[in-house]
Amino acid sequence: QAFFKPIQNTASPSSTKRHTKVSVIGVGNVGMAIAQTILTQDLADELALIDAKADKLRGEMLDLQHAAAFLPRTKIVASVDYAVTVGSDLCIVTAGARQNPGESRLNLLQRNVALFSHIIPPLAKYSPDSILLIVSNPVDVLTYVSWKMSGFPSNRVIGSGTNLDSSRFRFLIADHLDVNAQDVQAYIVGEHGDSSVALWSTISIGGVPVLSFLEKQQIAYEKETLENIHKAVIESAYEVISLKGYTSWAIGYSVANLARSLLRDQRKIHPVSVLAKGFYGIDGGDVFLSLPTQLGRGGVLGVTNIHLTDEEMERLRESAKTILEVQSQLGM
Ligand code: NAI
Ligand code: 2OP
Repeated sequence: QAFFKPIQNTASPSSTKRHTKVSVIGVGNVGMAIAQTILTQDLADELALIDAKADKLRGEMLDLQHAAAFLPRTKIVASVDYAVTVGSDLCIVTAGARQNPGESRLNLLQRNVALFSHIIPPLAKYSPDSILLIVSNPVDVLTYVSWKMSGFPSNRVIGSGTNLDSSRFRFLIADHLDVNAQDVQAYIVGEHGDSSVALWSTISIGGVPVLSFLEKQQIAYEKETLENIHKAVIESAYEVISLKGYTSWAIGYSVANLARSLLRDQRKIHPVSVLAKGFYGIDGGDVFLSLPTQLGRGGVLGVTNIHLTDEEMERLRESAKTILEVQSQLGM
């Protein structure tokens, strides 16, 4: 406690606003991109970092703390001990193995499930009322695993899912049509990965529904171009990983975007991984995959009823089947 008092207090400590705490588990490429975006966007009063590597963790904490003069005020703490996460409003899990060039996300499953058994139970113990936001891959199956391991209600267990793929999709459509990606409404749903589903029938730009516009104008239906854009979305991560070794900036912004909707009760619609059983004819088991979901302070507030074409419905059910097949190897 310092003796020097530069400020004469006039308000009692209890008059300060509610404290928002976010924990980020894993301070690798992804965890740090998320942490720094959360800091620059002023989304938390306290940021707790956890990793298994103590030196790397302390180095990352100090490096962020040294930016204090340029950032909104946030208390930054770090430890290998989960006690540091106590009372978190939001726990973001990014720890674990990542893909080697050319490797699929689903291939990471066994390695990352083993790690999750050391991560999710202590998070649930220290922050029983928090929202879990899972980012590690394969994100859909690991969100299911986190739901099971935490015992949390499904509205408080969310996977970052295709919020990222949908941003890649909007970028590519915007680039193709020379418009602003923020004016493109377009969803990718299903698995965050190779079986993801592009909802072409829902794309609109500045309120103009793209497919019906093309059909009405009798412009040849650019199916091949559209399919190629979706293929490019699926290839995006593989391309970035083969070039720089990992992906980080886009997932950092994507997760900060979700954190804002959750912590600030924005009630915005995001394609994220949620318990999908019972929606869009998905049955056959408890499966988490991305659907357009309304997010707020309570976590998942609801899933939107978009009208899907028969082909989109079929592809979504196939995506659910792919995830369930992988999940069945876990026996949980
Ligand atoms: P990285 O290798 O840079 O970082 C992983 C971190 O996890 C390391 O700092 C490591 O020490 C830590 N870690 C490992 N075991 C741990 C444990 N038991 N407890 C605490 N920390 C532990 O990997 P990167 O690039 O940050 O990727 C992390 C994960 O995020 C991967 O699974 C990757 O596939 C996934 N990812 C998911 C995305 C998505 O859209 N869902 C996007 C990009 C990556
Ligand atoms: C991504 O899509 C690899 O899942 C990660 O960037």
